[in-house]
Amino acid sequence: MSSRNNKSILDLRSLEKTKIDFLFSVADKIAASDKALTFEGFGKTGALLFFEASTRTRMSFETACARWGIYPLRLDGKSGTSLEKGETYEDTVLNVDAMKPSFLVIRCGDDLDLEDLSKKVQAPILNAGWGKKGHPTQALLDAYTIRKHLGSCEKQKVLIVGDVRHSRVASSHFELAEKLGYDVALCGPSEFLPENPKCKVFSSLKEGLSWATVAMALRVQLERHSTKHSLSDYRDQYGFTQKNLQSLSAKALIMHPGPINQGTELDSEVLQDPRCQVLDQVSNGVLIRQALVYATVTEGK
Ligand code: CP
Repeated sequence: MSSRNNKSILDLRSLEKTKIDFLFSVADKIAASDKALTFEGFGKTGALLFFEASTRTRMSFETACARWGIYPLRLDGKSGTSLEKGETYEDTVLNVDAMKPSFLVIRCGDDLDLEDLSKKVQAPILNAGWGKKGHPTQALLDAYTIRKHLGSCEKQKVLIVGDVRHSRVASSHFELAEKLGYDVALCGPSEFLPENPKCKVFSSLKEGLSWATVAMALRVQLERHSTKHSLSDYRDQYGFTQKNLQSLSAKALIMHPGPINQGTELDSEVLQDPRCQVLDQVSNGVLIRQALVYATVTEGK
């Protein structure tokens, strides 16, 4: 078995700070329409293998490919593919890899071992959401959004509210916070939080929001809970409602990776709050994934 392609990004623990800085600087140049940043994408392909549902991540990688002139090879779920005939996820990836794409963007559950797979394929794997393990590009675009609006990620206080136990986004933020020097704290019902949290936990949302410079709500993943929760109780205690958000500073940011259960973890009116960056996160997601595709295809040439 060979070693992992060193351009694969499966987690943020193993991503060098210099690479993160490089990605952010490329994203800045793309945002500023820097014409110096070009490469010939024509004739190249990028495989977007989404074994689980996605809107933002899949379409932003597609946009990234389109902007560089790279043709995206799309696989969305089982329907219409040989997965319906019983082919395994691993065989599917190995067969697509044999078509020699420049990279493999993969969203999958915990059952697929991307670490092992990355040693069997020739193309680098970019993790686009892997079970509960991590969602590196989401955390990167969140950090890029924080840096854009607050000047730097360093010393920011990021309060993650809600279903942390099932969140791959939170997992990636724990890794990225160490690299970029921001603090993470948690708030939510105890059954939504990790059993042994390794960071500050606020039992009161009001106290947490008073501490935070960034308030990030997570989707309540009810499909993953065995016990039933009252959604209206959740909204009262932990929801990002205009009333609850009075405790958050006027200069702070309100974020959510999406998709949002409006009226549960975040009210629809909050999307109009000047502190709310939810749609800017999506726009920045295109920049970060464009930067990532650029780095993957050109670096070290
Ligand atoms: N944030 C995020 O991963 O959204 P999608 O599931 O729509 O890609």
